Amino acid sequence: ATTLGASAAERGRYFGTAVAVNKLSDTAYATILNREFNSVTAENEMKIDALEPSQNQFNYANADRLVSHARSRNMQVRGHTLAWHSQQPGWMQNMSGTALRSAMLNHVTQVATHFRGQVVAWDVVNEAFADGNGGARRDSNLQRTGNDWIEAAFRAADAADPNAKLCYNDYNTDNWTWDKTQAVYRMVQDFKTRGVPIDCVGLQSHFNSGSPYPSNYRTTLSSFAALGVDVQITELDIEGSGTTQANTYRNVVNDCLAVARCTGITVWGIRDTDSWRASGTPLLFDGSGNKKPAYDAVLSAL
Ligand code: XIL
Repeated sequence: ATTLGASAAERGRYFGTAVAVNKLSDTAYATILNREFNSVTAENEMKIDALEPSQNQFNYANADRLVSHARSRNMQVRGHTLAWHSQQPGWMQNMSGTALRSAMLNHVTQVATHFRGQVVAWDVVNEAFADGNGGARRDSNLQRTGNDWIEAAFRAADAADPNAKLCYNDYNTDNWTWDKTQAVYRMVQDFKTRGVPIDCVGLQSHFNSGSPYPSNYRTTLSSFAALGVDVQITELDIEGSGTTQANTYRNVVNDCLAVARCTGITVWGIRDTDSWRASGTPLLFDGSGNKKPAYDAVLSAL
């Protein structure tokens, strides 16, 4: 096949991108999106601050625009994200204790119910582990409501949308030897052992000099999969350019294809100029929408 999405589909996978909803009216952007991708993730429009700007007042307009764009073009939607320490609305940032726990669970329930049947997979919880050594949970207002906040969020999401795949998503969990990776692994193992509903693990995979693509990436993917969950590469971008960058993209695709339960790859933006990274050229299309060597490497690997 001649596009990322169609080629991935021939391998039983999806190939997605993060979408900024306000760019859907950019013709060059929408042309590449509609031609190449068969899955979308809202870059910001399904985050807590976007959907619940005031407590219990939900604003679904932008997110619904993306969902209808996707559904009318047979693209899947990944939901991102129901519970997170970041991009919380002001009213939530200042909450704590049982009031925050209830507000978080209400958010999970309301949002997962609104999108029931339209979101294939949810990042139920995002970035709940700390960086560095030790494998601790990240300190946050949510964590301070009790160590069981993650499983409570998963149970609420499962009750609201029993058919959605429920994922735990994080970064710096790509290198199998890192403490953070091992800590997430043990949590998923514990959830599977105790019957907490979890279906998938998302590896953001923002690769740069501080957290480069690791040679044991395939081991990480296969080790999580062996726990009985799908793995998805959810926010891929790779610092660099030219042949070096293309080779790393090829390695990522080959690693996913080598693991039966690696069900899809999402890049975190379309053109380099769409990237959340302030500088650099981490994506598959240049600022003019031309295919980069990294694009050719991905397409030929798929
Ligand atoms: C980023 C968006 O790309 C930016 O537009 C926004 O300003 C901040 O968030 N990990 C995640 C994503 O899970 O939600 C982040 O997205 C990038 C890092």
